[in-house]
Amino acid sequence: HRTGAFDFIIFGATGDLTRRKLLPAFLRRFLAREFGAEARIICVARTAHSTDEFREHVQQDLREFAPDVARDEDKLREFLGLLTYVALDATQADADWQAIKAALPDPERTRVFYLATGPSLYASVCEALSAHGLITQHSRVVLEKPIGTSLATARAVNEGVGRFFPEEAIYRIDHYLGKEGVQNILALRFANPALEKLWSSEAIEHVQITAAETVGVGSRGPYYDEAGALRDMVQNHLLQVLCMVAMDAPASLRADDLRNEKLKVLNALRPMTPDMVRQNVIRGQYTAGRLKGEEVPGYTQDLATKHTSSTETFVAIRTKIRTARWGNTPFYLRTGKRLATKTTEIVLQFRPQAWPIFTNMPSPGRLVIRIAPHEELSFVMAVRDPGAGGLRVRNATLNMSYEHTFSIAYQDSYERLLLDAVRGDPALFIRRDEVDASWRWVEPILDTWQQGLTPLEPYPAGSWGPASARALLARDGALWHEDM
Ligand code: BG6
Repeated sequence: HRTGAFDFIIFGATGDLTRRKLLPAFLRRFLAREFGAEARIICVARTAHSTDEFREHVQQDLREFAPDVARDEDKLREFLGLLTYVALDATQADADWQAIKAALPDPERTRVFYLATGPSLYASVCEALSAHGLITQHSRVVLEKPIGTSLATARAVNEGVGRFFPEEAIYRIDHYLGKEGVQNILALRFANPALEKLWSSEAIEHVQITAAETVGVGSRGPYYDEAGALRDMVQNHLLQVLCMVAMDAPASLRADDLRNEKLKVLNALRPMTPDMVRQNVIRGQYTAGRLKGEEVPGYTQDLATKHTSSTETFVAIRTKIRTARWGNTPFYLRTGKRLATKTTEIVLQFRPQAWPIFTNMPSPGRLVIRIAPHEELSFVMAVRDPGAGGLRVRNATLNMSYEHTFSIAYQDSYERLLLDAVRGDPALFIRRDEVDASWRWVEPILDTWQQGLTPLEPYPAGSWGPASARALLARDGALWHEDM
């Protein structure tokens, strides 16, 4: 459905995120007629450009990052016409906000401020917005990750922003929540009562959540080397996916009902003591290796600025959720750069028969929810092996691929989330207490690492991480999906 008129102001408009994700997402939604010529996208960054020059750059970017839709010249020109560029250094106290004020003449229109700058600027940008009278009744602010680098810094960011915007107007984005496959977890679980009956320790032996990437650190070295995989992927994306998999049914799909249930999961995660960390968390860093037939350099070579670094590019975690539903089921989380393949998936491994009557039993079966590179559901089960004599069983897979089932092109997560922010639907955004709870669980891991209590293990690019990640599951008699 179409939105009304809105002003969308992006701080950090010359950055990677704006070029690769935000503006292509807006172009696609514009072409889908979700908004029209009455919308304004005001792009703010430090570099001195005129609006015409900026539009010129954006046109090139869109041809590169959204080539399938940037072909229609007339529509593209119409879209570029919605953009205004404002050069402003938001770090300077004496910066001139006049041009932004001039670009926002109507206080009755929906106003969304999108902060795609470093998080250290969030509070000061909000303060400046307030000082210049730009925050109206109809204003919201969207915060990109990372929100802080620790519990204390996350609190400082949230407090800083919270002084100028009420919590209902703060939209903390986690693009994993906008992914079709993550959204579908809700449908899978709460629209299929039969499946939900299986959804507990009673039937499920373990759950694994993997976000594996083949890319290395690329040009993001300065950010990534400070962050590492735990802050970059686990504290936000993986924990949010874990919440979607493990939460109880919310009373409704409204934002606070959903977030209350997610928060309960975060609070029920078994706390990480230093001993727990030593036994249940693996940290790795990629070294040079062969990936898809190509030689690729190691992490420190990719950084190019240092010879050594103790930043992890791989994490595997074994944890438990202290609830009646899940108490007996280990959850394994794993993410890494330069791994063997790009895949984001959830595996729910079923328990074996209590009293097996078949002499051979390949695997008690599993449900695989694949989120990337393609959305897919597979149900691995046991069937009689038609080729064998007697009653032998083997595994076979029921498969549902989105690509083959649905012909429509569904939205990328930023398309969905940007328009949700415009419409004022916070259901897929993170509430402040969720950020706190995630950091509270993650921080002891960082502290333990800092004390040098766990080794940083090298793994060759193109592998599935350090060998100890395999051993982590072997302890429970379990295997990672690629080894099954
Ligand atoms: C980002 C991380 O939040 O998510 C990146 O900062 C990572 O390091 C990316 O590559 C992964 O997103 P996706 O959608 O490609 O799985």
